[in-house]
Amino acid sequence: MLSGKRILLIIGGGIAAYKALDLIRRLRERGAAVTPVLTAAAAQFVTPLSVSALAGEKVYTELFDLTDEAEMGHIQLSRVADLVVVAPATADLMAKMAQGLAGDLATTLLLATDTPVLIAPAMNVRMWEHAATQRNLATLRGDGVRVVGPNEGDMACGEYGPGRMSEPLEIVAGVEAALGQGPLQGRRVLVTSGPTHEPIDPVRYIANRSSGAQGSAIARALAVLGAEVTFVTGPAGVPPPDGVAVVRVQTARQMRDAVMAALPADAAVFAAAVADWHVVGDSRSKIKKVAGTLPTLQFAENPDILAEVSQLGTGRPKLVVGFAAETDDVVANATAKRVRKGCDWIVANDVSPATGIMGGTENAVTLISDAGAEVWDRAGKDVVATRLAARIADALGKG
Ligand code: CTP
Repeated sequence: MLSGKRILLIIGGGIAAYKALDLIRRLRERGAAVTPVLTAAAAQFVTPLSVSALAGEKVYTELFDLTDEAEMGHIQLSRVADLVVVAPATADLMAKMAQGLAGDLATTLLLATDTPVLIAPAMNVRMWEHAATQRNLATLRGDGVRVVGPNEGDMACGEYGPGRMSEPLEIVAGVEAALGQGPLQGRRVLVTSGPTHEPIDPVRYIANRSSGAQGSAIARALAVLGAEVTFVTGPAGVPPPDGVAVVRVQTARQMRDAVMAALPADAAVFAAAVADWHVVGDSRSKIKKVAGTLPTLQFAENPDILAEVSQLGTGRPKLVVGFAAETDDVVANATAKRVRKGCDWIVANDVSPATGIMGGTENAVTLISDAGAEVWDRAGKDVVATRLAARIADALGKG
């Protein structure tokens, strides 16, 4: 709950500004008071009237509005809030914030404030990926600005990729966490992610197609809810999220040791695609090709990390969540896997090539628990992650 909290909401000028209207509703539903500020560009996307009607408060737009200055100076306006939220934070606003420019009311407030700031970036994917924006992002983070999103998906401009503003409820979760009120505040959660690389010799290895995208999104979603996350990752194709403790490993055996070292935890989520076998006696020097002969590889089983943690006596996390990547009889195989491993939940997904899930951006999962199988709609991996994190928060909150 956010009762008694005041949010200064700065709405930037982007197509995602319409989501700020819903964000105001969601914040107020939870008891927060919202003081809205519109940039001049934002007023091209949403009207001051609709913003103030939803906020139930006056909307501030101009720096040199003498009436506003008489009622409440901009310095004071920036200080009465418990949190300043910028949503959408456009590339332009981020650049101005990073430079400390103060040419209008929004940027002046941001420069004058001494309260924490949370931004929800939204922009075209190329603008997001541009070196200048990434530089500004790093500067802002270094200044202590919290960041939620952006999400990956179809964009209003017709392109695809990271740049969509987080959904209002994700921003609310970010607000709660920023105010030390996330449902997972004070909880330790361990997440494994990515593939493992099992060496054959110094230059060759056995791997799989996991990108690590789902595990990374889960770790991010848990951190947004306030959890202290240890993220044990194999060599993944996507970067680890911010705000988590990252432990990088290569092999399944290293992952096992890193997991054990990260315990105790309140919950553990095993999203890594761990190799089942490693090559026995991997060669210290490169295996040379010899005409007419083929190398023979001998395998040994890797430790089953999920099973080991699920079956710990003392020190077992209260909630252990495994994944089951299947290509056939998904629910039946995953249900059996849950029992065999001894975990509490299994997130099952069909990774047949036709689904495009392995290495893709979407996931269609079935959550298997002792209550049975619950089919979730196919959605972006970040949406699946947010939903799973909320369920984990619920489960931990209950006991
Ligand atoms: N897992 C693990 N350690 C392993 C193998 C798997 O922790 N050595 C975890 C994965 O992170 C995942 C779950 O176990 O949460 C299931 O992984 P999966 O590869 O589907 O299961 P396997 O036990 O390898 O079964 P199979 O390959 O026969 O389907």
